[in-house]
Amino acid sequence: MDNNVLKMLQDQVNQEIYSAYLYMSMSSWFSDNSYQGFEKWMRVQVQEELAHAAYFMNYIQDRNQSLTFEAIAKPNSEWKNPLNIFEVSYTHECGITKSITDIFVASRNIGDIKSETFLQWFISEQIEEEKTVSDIIGRLKIAGDSSNALLMLDKEYGTKIFTMAANITF
Ligand code: FEO
Repeated sequence: MDNNVLKMLQDQVNQEIYSAYLYMSMSSWFSDNSYQGFEKWMRVQVQEELAHAAYFMNYIQDRNQSLTFEAIAKPNSEWKNPLNIFEVSYTHECGITKSITDIFVASRNIGDIKSETFLQWFISEQIEEEKTVSDIIGRLKIAGDSSNALLMLDKEYGTKIFTMAANITF
């Protein structure tokens, strides 16, 4: 397997675990500030990110390559309000989309069809991740400073549940 593509895939495992860590920090802020629904939403997001990390790990090992382990960056823990959290989340997801797209392009450039095929699932997943967060941002902007509206959205988003994609095993 090409060393550059392998290194990018190994780094992506770290990025997915960092994503989980970032969302843990955000869920903690929601807990501290009595937004129980958004806290639950973020905890489901943590599970999804750990599943993404596992999916990359499985692929690297299925290709008979080794994992590498680097430090996970410290996430921010100071947030202004729910809108600020979801705006940071959106920017973060766009960065993840870029890093996955970069691996896809690197795979294509060297004719690594297996990696290209594997990464297609993630490219579709990122479209969904960006849209979901973007929708929440739009609704939070409508809610503004209205406590009633914010509590209504908090209740609504607390119904999210974790479902493991059929192609991911831990
Ligand atoms: Fe693993 Fe939120 O993308």
